Amino acid sequence: MISLSVNGQTHQVDADPSTPLLWVLRDHLGLTGTKFGCGIAQCGACTVNIDGAARRTCRLQVSAVEGAEITTIEGLAEDGLTPIQQAWIDHDVVQCGYCQSGQIMSATALLKENPSPTDEDIDTAMSRNICRCGAYTRIRAAIKQAAGQGEAR
Ligand code: FES
Ligand code: FES
Repeated sequence: MISLSVNGQTHQVDADPSTPLLWVLRDHLGLTGTKFGCGIAQCGACTVNIDGAARRTCRLQVSAVEGAEITTIEGLAEDGLTPIQQAWIDHDVVQCGYCQSGQIMSATALLKENPSPTDEDIDTAMSRNICRCGAYTRIRAAIKQAAGQGEAR
C-alpha cells in the first residue's frame, strides 16, 4: 500500500510503486481532470502541483511522491474559484480544453513562486505546456489578470 496525500486527503492506494502518478490519480482515485497527452513528459497535459511546484505525472513514479502534498485541478479551489480560474473564464481561454488543467496547474505554481511575473517569466514558465489550439495569448493575458497586472475583461 502506498500512502498519498491528495487535495488535503490521505489515501491508501494498492498500486505497484512504479506506476506513474497520473494513472493512480485517474484510475485509483477517479481524479480524471488530470489528462494524458504524450506520456513522455513533453506536453504538460498531466501537470499537477506537488508541494506547490508544477510536476508532470505521466513519468513520475507514485512511490516518489509518498509524503508530498499533491494538488490536482479538482482540489485547487477551496471555496469558489481561484483568481486564476476566474481569469481563465474572464478571458475565455479554453478552446477544446484538453490541455487546460495542466495549464492552470502550471500557472498556479508560477504565481505561487513569482506573484508578479513579467511576460518573459510567464512565457518561460508556461513554455512546456503545449496547447494544440494555440490559446497562448489568452493564457498569458489571464495570468496577468490573476497577478493583478492585466486588464480584467
Ligand atoms: S502526458 Fe505527461 S507531459 Fe504529456
Ligand atoms: S485548449 Fe485545446 S489543446 Fe489547449
